[in-house]
Amino acid sequence: MDEKYNLIAPTLFGIEGIAADEFRRMGFENVTSQNGRVLLEGNGNMLARANICSRFAERILINVGVFSATSFTELFDGVKKLEWERYIGKENAFPVTGSSINSVLYSIPDCQSIIKKAIVDRLSSKYKISWFEETGAELRIRFTIIKDEVTLMIDTSGEGLHKRGYRKHSNDAPLKETLAAAMCDLARIYPDTKLYDPFCGSGTILIESALMATKRAPGLNRYFAAERFDFLAPNVWRLERTRAQDNIIHNVDFKAVGFDIDESCVELTLANAKKAGVEKYVKASIGDIKNFKTPDERLLVITNPPYGERLLDVKAAEELYKIMGERFDEKAGKKYFVISPHDEFEKIFGRPADKRRKLYNGMIKCQLFMYFKNKA
Ligand SMILES: C[S@@+](CC[C@H](N)C(=O)[O-])C[C@H]1O[C@@H](n2cnc3c(N)ncnc32)[C@H](O)[C@@H]1O
Repeated sequence: MDEKYNLIAPTLFGIEGIAADEFRRMGFENVTSQNGRVLLEGNGNMLARANICSRFAERILINVGVFSATSFTELFDGVKKLEWERYIGKENAFPVTGSSINSVLYSIPDCQSIIKKAIVDRLSSKYKISWFEETGAELRIRFTIIKDEVTLMIDTSGEGLHKRGYRKHSNDAPLKETLAAAMCDLARIYPDTKLYDPFCGSGTILIESALMATKRAPGLNRYFAAERFDFLAPNVWRLERTRAQDNIIHNVDFKAVGFDIDESCVELTLANAKKAGVEKYVKASIGDIKNFKTPDERLLVITNPPYGERLLDVKAAEELYKIMGERFDEKAGKKYFVISPHDEFEKIFGRPADKRRKLYNGMIKCQLFMYFKNKA
């Protein structure tokens, strides 16, 4: 029983390539990145591995089928042709949700009910029953219709994969864990990195980098919807969790140091680091960027300063960028990675970035400004 699944992993825009590389490193075959998603193939073990280990994907979906439809009849027939009995048993609940963009079929409620009817029709003839109680485990069916191309998927993750299980509480403007992880990947984290975040908030960057430095899988402490799916062998989850646990590197020389002006953020960072199992590596204390002194060691700063439109007014945010430019010295061995939506960031900070990369923090278009070439 080593069935292969075609999988779709949606990602934030801008980090598809990073997610694809990670899936290749995990051992996936036929990995392709597209706009906002990665396509990949793997067996049940790999499906569990993707959920437990992916730092960058938003969720893992099984691609049940793709076809084009411009009428409800075509939609019904296309859905009915797919092998739903491969996944859905007589008892399973299977709610349908989805979206439509630039397509003839645009009414979501109508598409939802037609898809549901078509699946029921297919399963009724396979199972020889006409009524489904749907009292068993839930398999969420998702559909997208983009330019009349319909994709039918089954969600294997449940809660989004950015929910690692360590952040029960957050501050006002937390960075999504998947985005923080992508920033850490771009900045390169090693087992002996000394990382600083002078605007640490709830500690997302510090914690994601500590997870990376110790090769601790982000999903080790959470549950996934597919753990209740009958078509997957129950031991895949145990095996993959053990594998992920065995991969953890203990006692690395890594440290992550955070500061925040707000005492409650410092407490939050420390509590979240503990929940994530990386408290040994994460320190945090109260500190104003005005008093930040670049430590005299090889270091990496990755930070997400306040955005004008969300926490402070734009002028106050700009003032912080200016202070950062003065405080982040250019001595050898210092690297700075700052995410900001401000187009004039480099001007206010005081020097042009060595490289920049477009990233999205939710709906906010940002850039990661990267300073890594030593000037002195
Ligand atoms: C956008 S949030 C950082 C969120 C963080 N990346 C996370 O994921 O939770 C910016 C943080 O900067 C802090 N802050 C604001 N002004 C500051 C200052 N002058 N010095 C240090 N921290 C400051 C705020 O308290 C807030 O927690």
